[in-house]
Amino acid sequence: MGMAELLHFLCFFGVFWGFIKDSVCVTLNNEIQNGEKPKNGAVEMKTKIVTIGKMDAPEDINKKLSEAGSIIQNGGLVAFPTETVYGLGGDALNPESSKKIYAAKGRPSDNPLIVHIADIAHLESIVCEIPQKAKLLADAFWPGPLTMIFRKSQLVPYQTTGGLETVAVRMPSNVLASQFIEKSGGYIAAPSANISGRPSPTSAKYVKQDMIGRIDMILEADDVEIGLESTIVDVTCEVPMILRPGYITQEMLCGIVGEIKVDETIFDSSSAAVPKAPGMKYRHYAPKGELVIVEGEPQAVVGFINEKTAAHKSRGERTGVLCTEEWLTQYHADSIKNAGSRNDCKTAAMRLYTFLREFDDENIAYIYAEVFDNAGLGQAVMNRLLKAAGHHIVKV
Ligand code: TXA
Ligand code: MG
Repeated sequence: MGMAELLHFLCFFGVFWGFIKDSVCVTLNNEIQNGEKPKNGAVEMKTKIVTIGKMDAPEDINKKLSEAGSIIQNGGLVAFPTETVYGLGGDALNPESSKKIYAAKGRPSDNPLIVHIADIAHLESIVCEIPQKAKLLADAFWPGPLTMIFRKSQLVPYQTTGGLETVAVRMPSNVLASQFIEKSGGYIAAPSANISGRPSPTSAKYVKQDMIGRIDMILEADDVEIGLESTIVDVTCEVPMILRPGYITQEMLCGIVGEIKVDETIFDSSSAAVPKAPGMKYRHYAPKGELVIVEGEPQAVVGFINEKTAAHKSRGERTGVLCTEEWLTQYHADSIKNAGSRNDCKTAAMRLYTFLREFDDENIAYIYAEVFDNAGLGQAVMNRLLKAAGHHIVKV
């Protein structure tokens, strides 16, 4: 073959390869993907991935959300973004949809789901009464990252509330979430879109990791803004009680209703009481590696962690550190995660779950975490970190 023929051949092959590649991409762009075989009784299925970008025309977004809405109205499941974490949605008023949610997540069915609404007028049909303090809290924080527990009306099936007489309700502020809820008939039951026991997904990438092959559709949009799940407040009692800390802090709630109680089990692992939010009793968010929280004066903490990581390294074990920006350069672990400044828990909240997943991806066997200030949003960060560590905390 002469040089000209060879070039001709290479050129032809290049075009041919481009064609093959494009057809593979078209298949993926058709955005139907199969995942690994789901366990826990979930039906293996094709998952359609629909991406919604900032530059999309409103009528395109409308079309995509309508398709998602009709899946929900036909009893299917769709994962969608909210301002806190991605949710795994089904029709809250359809018992079969709730059963499918439990199966897709591999979640115990005594762990109730949050009902998401987009219109405050819809609250009345799913609860028995709206206490005055709940009205004040809704005025102040809805739409937003606050979930309230009410006595449920007959419209809400026990399959959605895990057999309870109460129902958790939240009105998200994320615009796509609220349009999706409206298109779905107004009531979306949605836990976080992770397999039970894994960190809640803060980006569509993690939803795909956990949910492809288990649900009908994933609405893929931007990463979430907050990164930790909503604050849960029980408003069925005279003095409202925080069952799960979140972005709406104790101080913010007190500012509206005065007195607020906090479920004692949130921070005290030795408490004999059963958590009032059934989900809080499970050991969530556990990374595969052993996670230890280290508390003490700065130099003592850095010294302890460096000593431990050096010992692990000498045995060939991979180590990780989750720390604040201020102390970052002092560590020598294999993987060092920057949780932002000591004075800004927002960054820690936003990054925590991503870091826990990344430590797993990097095969980190031992993880050491600094303590975050347990005030304001720090309360939620420490609550999730303590759960991830199985309350393993070392004081140095
Ligand atoms: O930010 C959030 O709340 C996210 C997004 C998707 O909205 N959802 C979420 O859902 O975190 P999930 O299922 O992962 O957590 C719901 C928590 C569980 O701990 C559950 O036990 C509690 O809410 N819960 C639900 N209904 C309840 C009820 N009637 N009484 C007490 N706790 C309840
Ligand atoms: Mg969850």
